[in-house]
Amino acid sequence: MYSRKNQHDLTRTEKKRLVGAVLELKRSGRYDEFVTLHQKYYVTDAQSGPRPAHMSPSFFPWHRKYLLEFENALQAVDPGVSIPYWDWTRDSTPAASLWAEDFLGGNGRSGDRQVMTGPFAYGEGNWRISAGVTNDPFLRRNFGRPSAPVTLPSKADVDRALSDPVYDTAPWNSVSTTGFRNRIEGWGISGIRGVANHNQVHRWIGGSMAGAASPNDPVFWLHHAYMDLLWARWQETHPRSRYLPARSLPADDPQSNLVFALDEPMPPWDVAPAKLLDHAHLYSYV
Ligand code: CU
Ligand code: CU
Repeated sequence: MYSRKNQHDLTRTEKKRLVGAVLELKRSGRYDEFVTLHQKYYVTDAQSGPRPAHMSPSFFPWHRKYLLEFENALQAVDPGVSIPYWDWTRDSTPAASLWAEDFLGGNGRSGDRQVMTGPFAYGEGNWRISAGVTNDPFLRRNFGRPSAPVTLPSKADVDRALSDPVYDTAPWNSVSTTGFRNRIEGWGISGIRGVANHNQVHRWIGGSMAGAASPNDPVFWLHHAYMDLLWARWQETHPRSRYLPARSLPADDPQSNLVFALDEPMPPWDVAPAKLLDHAHLYSYV
């Protein structure tokens, strides 16, 4: 049992230890294996394969397991660390301590969007990006995408998603227009504004956080820890609601064999969503 803290509340020492463990995973090559894994499972619903990770009901359990694996790797380096979460409804400006030099570093510079500050700046010599990129080896960020501005989601946006008592709905993909899962995953449910919540945050950061290799930016883990927290909060808010689909879809359903029902094991770990519904025996959010 351990806790995952709000990144806002981390001490200097806690930040230093977390950064140190992340850099050690990078040095050993483990970090890039995680990036490659995420990229491998970045299957969209325009493709024809199974979608355990994105654009599907198992978005939450798949990422819960993925974060647990990463956290285990971190803890093998330093047993005292855990993945903090970033509440972007609260720490919502480029001036937030999250982006300071002693933690994740700041925005990318104009032009090539290269991050120039903090431990993950290319110039520091410890953060060369290779997995899933064909262009520059440096971490890139482009806060707010000035060329076509995007904001961070608001607390009202999150609350609206949390208030939906239904976990997910047919067609169980990026065009499901109701349901907590896609309201948070955020594939253009609002129609007009385009992406929402989870996807909107990827887009607000931009650069390396946009696309399949997004774990190349360490903020990925803090963002997804917050998604994991929101799932837990939704479960508390709606104690009678359940993960859906509860059973394998019928063979004549177009999504049959593409999405993962409650008891269908997800690759690469062969663990079913049912086994990941309860985080409380492993960690708590404080
Ligand atoms: Cu993902
Ligand atoms: Cu994501």
